Amino acid sequence: MTGGLVMKKIWQALLAHYEGVKHRPILSLFDDTARAELFTARAGEMVFDWSKTNIDADARAMLLALSEASGVAAKRQAMFSGETINETERRAVLHTALRDLEGTVIVGGKNVVAGIVATLERMEAFAADVREGRFTGQGGQITDVVNIGIGGSDLGPAMATLALAPYHDGPRVHYVSNVDGAHITDTLRGLDPATTMVIVASKTFTTIETMINAQTARDWMSKVVKNTDAQFVAVSMAAEKAAAFGIDASRVFGLENWVGGRYSMWGPIGLALMLAVGPTRFREFLAGGRAMDEHFLQADFDHNLPVLLALVGIWHNQICGYATRAVLPYDQRLTRLPAYLQQLEMESNGKRVAMDGSDLTIHSGPVIWGEPGTNGQHAFYQLIHQGTRVVPCEFLVARHGHEPDLAHQHLLLVSNCLAQAEALLRGRSLAEAQAIMETKGLVGDELERQARHRMFPGNRPSTVLAYPKLTPFVLGQIVALYEHRVFVEGVILGINSYDQWGVELGKELALVLQPMLEGKVSSAGKDGSTQMLVDYLKV
Ligand code: F6P
Repeated sequence: MTGGLVMKKIWQALLAHYEGVKHRPILSLFDDTARAELFTARAGEMVFDWSKTNIDADARAMLLALSEASGVAAKRQAMFSGETINETERRAVLHTALRDLEGTVIVGGKNVVAGIVATLERMEAFAADVREGRFTGQGGQITDVVNIGIGGSDLGPAMATLALAPYHDGPRVHYVSNVDGAHITDTLRGLDPATTMVIVASKTFTTIETMINAQTARDWMSKVVKNTDAQFVAVSMAAEKAAAFGIDASRVFGLENWVGGRYSMWGPIGLALMLAVGPTRFREFLAGGRAMDEHFLQADFDHNLPVLLALVGIWHNQICGYATRAVLPYDQRLTRLPAYLQQLEMESNGKRVAMDGSDLTIHSGPVIWGEPGTNGQHAFYQLIHQGTRVVPCEFLVARHGHEPDLAHQHLLLVSNCLAQAEALLRGRSLAEAQAIMETKGLVGDELERQARHRMFPGNRPSTVLAYPKLTPFVLGQIVALYEHRVFVEGVILGINSYDQWGVELGKELALVLQPMLEGKVSSAGKDGSTQMLVDYLKV
């Protein structure tokens, strides 16, 4: 049988298996008292519990067979060793090299690790100069850093900077991404231009939002500062464009085309994070990422966290047909994790053709959304528990918080997390709801009616990723875990997770629309709706 045929057979077997078990209560799987242990995997001190899903031993075997048949192991090797796996852009995919500081990674016949370490050391020297007051602004020590970037040049470091707030001991770090002038206005308000440093973070140095915001920041600074360029730093592949903008080469940190934007926070795109937490913490973050790489490379698929997260995702999305997945960190400082994962997962695996250009015959990645618990509980959990659609939930929770004085609050947080997973699993039957209504003195039709509003179907899947504490190391593990999950899902779906052509069309049309909104060009030829809106919105 050809590989394609084997894959087809496994997909079909999985779909058939699901048809047979889809009404089975997940709770019944716990009749096997070993289930919780059997469906839990560990990477270092991190624990992934996938037992509260409807995946049984047979489905598990088929999913693992799918990962074997799709060639995950060989493609993993190809990625780590620098082969051109991003075929549509003809590039290697080597964000893993950014955290493999003692490794050997050959690209184009050259070991790139020496260059990675040299850039890291330059970043560290610069960060130390800023943090220790040797690099100053016109008004003295840098108090505030504004990172101007968007997408991968914003979401990763912004998420991580918030996540690591307890470790901040450098300048205050702010992030501006949106072209909406409100974003930069609100960020710069209250900052002193004379002690503010701006990082223009753009892999290409052409992204319109970033370029306009960088110019706005420079105009703002120039009202006070004589030599604004001296307070600007660039992170970019396009050194010549940064130079043309006026940023001295000594303050330009380069990145390579084998690091995709949404995978780039491990290198110079992480400069703002390093400024906030310092080089030592940043290295701990890299070490966490590397530890997850080693786990991904070495652990059996059956106990391999990235593989298991991917397989659970495939089961829920492609097999069960659940179109979305909620990411629910019970960790306030992971507030931006869902937004970061939206780019990581949806820009990577939201594709409609396979690597060879043929139409996908299965759905690609799910819609990712979420908010931290317990906030979400008071907002959208109603739908998760009682809505007509099933939303697989992915909980994240730490054993310890960073606030020892508030340990009782942390336990309340954790108990809420576990309670939600349990409620999703167990639900509340109509009989249980009726009994509750009886205790309230209701009888007859009214009891029946009220009970029906209070029953929970349950049997809704969730997973829990638990970790000791949100340290830089653990954050590194989490980010690398999700990166590799995307990789495994992409391999199984047969798509290219590393291009993003789907963002281009809108950008091109915006360039055409701008002069129409300025009244310089007629909107004739546009569809009626667009013409009407241009007329309404033009200035
Ligand atoms: O528009 C999408 C995108 O290309 C992302 O993939 C990327 O992270 C973002 O824009 C920003 O790109 P750049 O770093 O080149 O400004």
